[in-house]
Amino acid sequence: MKEQNLSQALLDWYYKNGRDLPWRVKGGAHENPYVVLVSEFMLQQTTVKTVIPYFTKFMARFPTIFDLAQADLEEVYHYWQGLGYYSRARSLKQTAEMIVARGDFPQTEAEVLKLKGVGEYTAASFLALAFNQPLAVVDGNVMRIICRMYHLTQPLEDIKQDIKAKALKLTSVQNPADYASAIMDLGAMICTPKNPHCHDCPWQKYCASAGKSDVEHIPYRKKNEKPVRYGAVYLIKNSEGKYFIQKRMEKGLLSGLYAFPWCDNGTLQIYAKAAEDTGLEVVHVFTHFKLVLRLFVLEAESSVGNGLFVFPSAFENYPFSTLMKKVWKKFSLAE
Ligand code: ADE
Repeated sequence: MKEQNLSQALLDWYYKNGRDLPWRVKGGAHENPYVVLVSEFMLQQTTVKTVIPYFTKFMARFPTIFDLAQADLEEVYHYWQGLGYYSRARSLKQTAEMIVARGDFPQTEAEVLKLKGVGEYTAASFLALAFNQPLAVVDGNVMRIICRMYHLTQPLEDIKQDIKAKALKLTSVQNPADYASAIMDLGAMICTPKNPHCHDCPWQKYCASAGKSDVEHIPYRKKNEKPVRYGAVYLIKNSEGKYFIQKRMEKGLLSGLYAFPWCDNGTLQIYAKAAEDTGLEVVHVFTHFKLVLRLFVLEAESSVGNGLFVFPSAFENYPFSTLMKKVWKKFSLAE
């Protein structure tokens, strides 16, 4: 099926099933670009449900762009309270001032992008909804729809340009304003992240993912591959059978807890020569990296740095980090 026929199928579905929203008209561009502007700013990172009451009160207090441009910023903040991201409120007011100063609403993408707080997505949605321009409105919901439609299983981060190109081809050239609203509704009502309602989808017949078992996994995301660090830990035993442990400094990784001497890059020079490699390793995942710690043993009556020799039976009196518990477990089981 040709893309423009697909977009017509979506429009037909939208006219019957699309949501009625206070900033929305069906059947073409909104006659008031200010309404589109305010709603699109509010909808940046905030859900439709949350925005509705804020939008209604805001429009009652600042019904025109002139009211907003002249308003006291503190009062604008007051009406924004609860929506979060106050910088958006500040940007919206600045944008209103810019538009009043220039005397009209900009109608090209380049000019709209000069407004404060307007990025690629808001520029496209504003121009589509307020001026019926056939720009691709591509947010996370639309990306999900496109990836599923064409069964794109590469990581999302790698295929954004391809997704945008496909989204643009599907955009209705006859009716871009309604199409923008329609695809937003498809993402919100049908092609949801979990449990998509494929049976009710106007694109089901043409969707390469409908009915497939991986539909909920699309779009795929890159696995968060953490960098790996290789380090060493030293089990220093004295002739009594006690092991050397140290309290980690108050700052930094695992601070305040007791540990065998260890480092997270290479080996510790002071022990490296005398230590024996056990061949044992412990793997531990921190927030920002994965640590592979090699276990070395060493016999000594004293050690450098602050610390004490302790019998293994007394380890429970010294709080060990999970990492060091793992080290001891690995070592004691292998011994
Ligand atoms: N999300 C962003 N803009 C929207 C709009 N105009 N309607 C519904 N959801 C949206």
